[in-house]
Amino acid sequence: MGIDKDLLKKYTLATWGFKQGEAVSLMINLGVRLGIYRALDGAGTITASDLAVITGLHERWLKEWLCAQAAAGLVVSNDGETFLLEEEAALVLARADTPTYAGGVFSHLRHPRVVDGLEEAFRTGLGLTYDGQGEGSEHHVEAMLAPMARALLVPTVIPALTGMVDRLETGAKVLDIGCGTGLALQLMREAWPVSSYEGYDVSERAVAVARERFANFDNVTIHLAGAEEVPQVGEVDLVMTMDCLHDMPRPDLAMAAIRGAISVEGTWIVKEIKSSSEWSRNLRNPMLAMMYSTSVASCMSSAMSTPDGLGLGTLGLDPVTLEAMVKEAGFTQFTMHDLDDPTNLYYEIKP
Ligand SMILES: C[S@@+](CC[C@H](N)C(=O)[O-])C[C@H]1O[C@@H](n2cnc3c(N)ncnc32)[C@H](O)[C@@H]1O
Repeated sequence: MGIDKDLLKKYTLATWGFKQGEAVSLMINLGVRLGIYRALDGAGTITASDLAVITGLHERWLKEWLCAQAAAGLVVSNDGETFLLEEEAALVLARADTPTYAGGVFSHLRHPRVVDGLEEAFRTGLGLTYDGQGEGSEHHVEAMLAPMARALLVPTVIPALTGMVDRLETGAKVLDIGCGTGLALQLMREAWPVSSYEGYDVSERAVAVARERFANFDNVTIHLAGAEEVPQVGEVDLVMTMDCLHDMPRPDLAMAAIRGAISVEGTWIVKEIKSSSEWSRNLRNPMLAMMYSTSVASCMSSAMSTPDGLGLGTLGLDPVTLEAMVKEAGFTQFTMHDLDDPTNLYYEIKP
């Protein structure tokens, strides 16, 4: 059988395309760290020499970096001498306070020790918890999820839940389970300060960040404990599980515990990745390779971090699977909200 040269070319290009992505990712990280995108934002068409004056950085290094950016299609250059960061590119790379901002996610390069751990996981089946995924992974998670959380949680997601704004305004008991570094709790507390908030997470590093965040507020308590351990008090008004059920080894036990914690009139909001049980529908997602790869490195890894882990992973909680699981856990009302979020669906669930 002869080698098909076109197919060989296709696989070669596809493979090196990912290596190119890695190299460009490092450049994006440097651009963010050094404030170069911010300097380019609004500067118009500019030379490396002018950019050096504005930033105080070395001209030769900027020139090579700008050529790399232009080659990657992130800045525009017709002559290789003058460069423009378009307004739309600035919304993705320069302006940290916009929902489309993605610059923050390029800072987390995995330490070789973590890669060793993943290699071992393929042999043993036992994955790495978030704490095992390398120093700074908690900040990386926040950088990934914060722009959308800031844009949507308070103005759009909570108001989509029947009667919830009124309850939060008069004082509700809120649990954020799998709270990570506590950004959602901070946004909620700022919007509805009379309510009381508790966060649960199993990551020591994320909990340390969250505790520091709320050191001066007595209506927020952070517990270093798993979802399965929330007190079975039957009095919580709002339970939040934001982008974390699919990371839990035993989401079934978490759901049962949430059922025991929530009041009969309570609401449980679930944020989960938009996915389908049908492969062909998932293939429509242009970021599918990133999602499955992130699953292996983070989400499924965490979901396989105990011997009894179900290992759902990033795309594991499609609406059909989620509804079946929450009904099994004893909830009867299940409403899906497709809000203005390209990556996630939101579910309003009640006992
Ligand atoms: C992708 S992060 C999401 C964090 C946060 N909810 C957010 O939206 O930024 C998933 C979190 O789930 C936590 N987690 C994993 N298993 C857990 C469990 N059994 N109970 C509570 N949290 C858990 C991880 O430690 C991690 O902080």
